[in-house]
Amino acid sequence: MLLPAIEARFACRRFVSGETPDAGLLAELIEAGRLAPSAFGLEPWRFVPVVEPVQRAAVARACFDQPAAETAGAFIVVIALVDALDPDSDYVRNRFEAEARGGDTAPVYEAYRAFYRAETMASWACGQCNFAVAHMLLQAAHTGWGSCPIGGFDAVRMSSALALSRAEVPAVAIALGRCAHSAAERLRKPI
Ligand SMILES: Cc1cc2nc3c(=O)[nH]c(=O)nc-3n(C[C@H](O)[C@H](O)[C@H](O)COP(=O)(O)O)c2cc1C
Repeated sequence: MLLPAIEARFACRRFVSGETPDAGLLAELIEAGRLAPSAFGLEPWRFVPVVEPVQRAAVARACFDQPAAETAGAFIVVIALVDALDPDSDYVRNRFEAEARGGDTAPVYEAYRAFYRAETMASWACGQCNFAVAHMLLQAAHTGWGSCPIGGFDAVRMSSALALSRAEVPAVAIALGRCAHSAAERLRKPI
């Protein structure tokens, strides 16, 4: 049953000091993200685990030192691959050839060229990244770890903390750790 993990997940705003998710957990979360769906099967993301204290502090600063970031034991920052989405890129060709499983790539190219607009691809790619983020948040909840998705960051400082190229855009930082507080009452609109 997946629903218990969905019900258990909440945005944790403060983590227990000294509780750092280990490499095995980060690998599991990244695997959950890797299996997320994406439009055209383009998987326009890259996942950057951040554990090392100096880099962790730089990521927290990019997140304006909000408490979830400042106390996180680790992050996985989800990066949107933006320039790679050019229809003439090797990246797109490789993905479409893989998706076509040896079949004709012409129909998907035709649909994608009609869809592609360079000026909107950064936000489109970030939107795709959210699917991977959701998978990772639920996997963290399933294993008993706390998480907080953080979209409130300075993109320039985040890019510099992670040494990103201009072809990539940070989409969401997932703060991870053992949550230091219980879940607040769930607020949701009725169906
Ligand atoms: C894309 C995204 C960005 C978010 N950014 C932040 C953030 O910068 N800081 C924060 O404290 N929470 C952030 N959140 C968490 C939301 O505030 C939280 O999910 C929402 O209030 C619902 O609460 P719940 O997740 O505990 O059910 C973000 C959530 C999403 C999906």
